[in-house]
Amino acid sequence: MSKKIPVGILGATGMVGQMYLSLLADHPWFEAAYLAASPRSAGKKYRDVMAGRWRLEGGWGPAGDLLVEDANDVSKAAAANKEGRCAFVFSALEMEKDEIRTLEEKYAAAGIPVVSNASAHRWTADVPMLIAEVNPHHADIIPAQRKSRGWDKGFIVVKPNCSIQSYTTPLWALLQRGYEIKRLLVTTMQAVSGAGYPGVPSWDMIDNLVPYIGGEEEKSEQEPLKIFGTIKDGLFVNAPEPAVSAHCNRVPVSDGHTACVSLEFGVKKPSIEEVKQIWTTFSALPQKEQFPMAPPRPIIVREENDRPQPRKDRNAGKAMAVSVGRIRPCNVFDLRFVGLSHNTARGAAGGGILNAELLKFKGYL
Ligand SMILES: NC(=O)c1ccc[n+]([C@@H]2O[C@H](COP(=O)([O-])OP(=O)(O)OC[C@H]3O[C@@H](n4cnc5c(N)ncnc54)[C@H](OP(=O)(O)O)[C@@H]3O)[C@@H](O)[C@H]2O)c1
Repeated sequence: MSKKIPVGILGATGMVGQMYLSLLADHPWFEAAYLAASPRSAGKKYRDVMAGRWRLEGGWGPAGDLLVEDANDVSKAAAANKEGRCAFVFSALEMEKDEIRTLEEKYAAAGIPVVSNASAHRWTADVPMLIAEVNPHHADIIPAQRKSRGWDKGFIVVKPNCSIQSYTTPLWALLQRGYEIKRLLVTTMQAVSGAGYPGVPSWDMIDNLVPYIGGEEEKSEQEPLKIFGTIKDGLFVNAPEPAVSAHCNRVPVSDGHTACVSLEFGVKKPSIEEVKQIWTTFSALPQKEQFPMAPPRPIIVREENDRPQPRKDRNAGKAMAVSVGRIRPCNVFDLRFVGLSHNTARGAAGGGILNAELLKFKGYL
């Protein structure tokens, strides 16, 4: 590709927005060219807004001199789009759900595709909830979405909640090989960066864990069903199973969500060795194109008894791989394992960028 595609980041100052800038700093296809956040940050250069607020180890790349715009002012982004400075936007806004839903639709109506991290449109029946390796075919609802909404160039796609990333791809790999999954019990241990910044008060996190994350258990129990679902008449139809019971906990880890999973198969049950072989060899993206953000292996199987661990494994495969370990029989269901993924990379900005790469590959961007 000769020239990089200029992209916008809505919510560029937040935890996820920072990760977008960091990951896009040397991305071969896309470059951050339009930044927006709340009216509090608007009108200043990014480097000035972020003084004392940048939370990541790497830098923000060449975006420091860009002016931060008000994300609520769609006309600014539409003008940038016309001038060739904003081909599409990554949305990483934290606002009321209804406000985000309306705002993202305004961007799409203005001809600007939206690749979103927010939950606002996850249950909109014509909006795909994409994990690039799992349901890339769901992106093909975009023409129907555009047609029914009267949108010419714009569209909306979302990615799922960060907490389900650490086990959804392994489940899909098993489903793909013909193993039905009937029931699932999952207990997550989620990093504090998942709550944005400043997020959970330090008094609640030091020497402690919090056994409640608002809305997270419902999302964990419902979102896999849309991801494993089908398209009928331009709308998504949920898969009927698995039934999921989720416990979601906030733990004093900076980055990396961990999940302990027990699952029950249908009549056909794979051996432990077969499960490991399926996960080790799983690869779903088209081989003919190298997706820059894709991990070399989407699932990494750890054989050590004490892995995966957030500090040691969250950055595996460009922080985009799901690490699984402790794969063993379950005394109540059939199989137990522990999954781990990086919540602001795989679970947020990295997942969004990989979705955009997929959409570019499919010709939608
Ligand atoms: N953190 C994660 O691991 C994670 C994972 C998956 C999905 N998500 C989702 O990604 C989104 C961003 O999360 P985050 O953790 O990055 O949140 P965050 O750190 O709180 O950042 C929120 C961003 O939204 C902007 N914003 C807030 N109020 C606004 C308003 N009224 N108008 C316009 N912009 C406004 C903020 O701008 P200012 O700085 O100017 O206030 C900031 O850029 C959320 O929808 C979240 O659910 C997060």
